[in-house]
Amino acid sequence: MKKIILVGGAGYIGTVLAKHLLNDNYKVKCIDNLIYSQDECINKFLENENFEFINIDIRNKYLLDEHFNDVHSVILLAGLVGDPISKNILK
Ligand SMILES: NC(=O)c1ccc[n+]([C@@H]2O[C@H](COP(=O)([O-])OP(=O)(O)OC[C@H]3O[C@@H](n4cnc5c(N)ncnc54)[C@H](O)[C@@H]3O)[C@@H](O)[C@H]2O)c1
Repeated sequence: MKKIILVGGAGYIGTVLAKHLLNDNYKVKCIDNLIYSQDECINKFLENENFEFINIDIRNKYLLDEHFNDVHSVILLAGLVGDPISKNILK
């Protein structure tokens, strides 16, 4: 079974994609730091043995390194998306 890492997988696109990948018999490792405290978005996946959630900030290279073994693909979705949060960051 191939394993896919979704970086930023607890977001809008990541949660939809995770559902499709699990349905297609992939293992999914979701790496996300839940900046919107959006725990409820991934709770529905946590009982699936093919889903793993890692709560870390991707800017921490040292924490990230250990999670990329035996992985088929990595999909990068983490970002600060949308006008309000982008303006907030620039302040
Ligand atoms: N939603 C759209 O319609 C759309 C359209 C085109 C492109 N995109 C791009 O797709 C990507 C994902 O979009 P989305 O709508 O799912 O965004 P989103 O904000 O819903 O999801 C982004 C996820 O990344 C996580 N994240 C942010 N910074 C992080 C960090 N430092 N470490 C770990 N996790 C972090 C957030 O917690 C969040 O769960 C973005 O790059 C966006 O620009 C989105």
